[in-house]
Amino acid sequence: MAQVDINKYFKPDLKKARKRTKESVEEINFQLKDMHKKIGINKKYQIHTYGCQSNEADSETMAGILELMGFTKTDIESESDVIILNTCAIRENAENRIWGELGRLKAFKRENPDLILALAGCMAQEENVVERVLKKYHHVDIIFGTHNIHLLPDYIETAMFSKEKVVEVFSNEGEIVENLPKTRNHQFKAWVNIMFGCDEFCTYCIVPYTRGKERSRSKEDIIEEVKSLVLEGYVEMTLLGQNVNAYGKDFKDIDYTFGDLLRDLDDLGMKRIRFTTSHPHDLDLKTMEAIRDSKHVMPFFHLPVQSGSNAVLKRMNRHYTKESYLNVLNQLKETVPGISVTTDIIVGFPGETEEDFEQTLDLVEQANFEGAYTFVYSKRAGTPAATYEETTPDELKKARLYRLNEKVNDGYLRGNKQFEGRTVKVLVDGVSKHNEEVLAGYSEHNKLVNFKGDKSLIGQIVSVKITKAKTWFLLGDLQ
Ligand code: SAH
Ligand code: SF4
Ligand code: F3S
Repeated sequence: MAQVDINKYFKPDLKKARKRTKESVEEINFQLKDMHKKIGINKKYQIHTYGCQSNEADSETMAGILELMGFTKTDIESESDVIILNTCAIRENAENRIWGELGRLKAFKRENPDLILALAGCMAQEENVVERVLKKYHHVDIIFGTHNIHLLPDYIETAMFSKEKVVEVFSNEGEIVENLPKTRNHQFKAWVNIMFGCDEFCTYCIVPYTRGKERSRSKEDIIEEVKSLVLEGYVEMTLLGQNVNAYGKDFKDIDYTFGDLLRDLDDLGMKRIRFTTSHPHDLDLKTMEAIRDSKHVMPFFHLPVQSGSNAVLKRMNRHYTKESYLNVLNQLKETVPGISVTTDIIVGFPGETEEDFEQTLDLVEQANFEGAYTFVYSKRAGTPAATYEETTPDELKKARLYRLNEKVNDGYLRGNKQFEGRTVKVLVDGVSKHNEEVLAGYSEHNKLVNFKGDKSLIGQIVSVKITKAKTWFLLGDLQ
């Protein structure tokens, strides 16, 4: 194969991605060009989504754009004309899965040379990834990033008609793009972006580089989206941002933050409002009071703590201590009695000692979390922590994860036990994975509930009396 000049492409640069400008962010409206309207007729697409809810939401936008171009979705890989991998870069194992997937898809390209294979999402924002794809994965036709999803029609057109490889990844965010079409994956639960990017720069995390600076959508645009979701019959929405507590802090001319938004969204007819994720140091009383006073904001809060050691928290650049985290948490629990709280924790951060780890165990005990996502630290090239000296052997990290999970699981069970004998409201999602006759859904406190009932209840909010609490779910009887 001829040597490709990989320098001719528009590649990302993590150092540039780190830069934050003071300039305010413009808003533009997406409009599909006439020439792109029929490109996809009689053609099929597939999107494989990895990573967090931001990616889920982005995939819905990509699907919306493709369908506007005439493409239809298919579940059969071999009949796809376009396959997009919307990738995640948060940990090495997330990336490894995608490398494997890229290798596997090579066979489809061999069968059908007209297949267009695109790599999108957070991995595309990493320069080492783009270089590796260009050198070793020649069957990838398009690489685009998180900042230019709205340009997908141009990329498809080029790949399809000029048969040229398209590599266009912007290191920095551009405008906020409104009026994007969306093909939502769910009939009664919706994602609503309220902001993009992250300015926290936790030292282990790649997200501020892959998602750009914090930009909040205007209140008017969000309200308009929510109103139309209500009209379309959506029952639950999850407001999305990497740090929703920073919503509105970038507005120059108005004082309007997350608590104000929650109050304004409460009256629009959406039955359930959830949000994710929050950074503890931006969580204010105004937000807590808005949750307390609202009728539709659910009594559930995911508040990532990452570590219980002050030394580690400092090296992680988290801007709080174990004590101040517990203070905020207590204030939240006092303001909104009965609220369920879950968290994220990383073990094995560079330099984490046994004592540091024990501080984390102690915090988990004191905080009384009702669940946690736990991770072993994964080195991300380009982040500050990648230069920190790693002292903990892998085996020890795994052992710590195991010990932590035991404690976390006690919390899940304790959290679930409080509902035994109580009647809870459940939004019915579908039938249980294990038994066709059993329905499954989530309670207001975000607990998975299984109970016998008819499929016709899917999409409705029903009352269920809890008979038994297990670690991972609740069992109950329909009332
Ligand atoms: N913005 C969100 C979450 C982003 S990623 C927040 O701050 O809550 C979700 C979780 O992945 C993080 O909370 C963290 O616990 C974990 N994570 C992020 N980077 C990681 C890394 N390099 N190694 C291990 N876990 C990581
Ligand atoms: Fe990553 Fe920290 Fe931003 Fe969350 S708040 S996305 S962990 S940098
Ligand atoms: Fe992964 Fe990007 Fe989300 S790195 S966790 S998909 S913001």
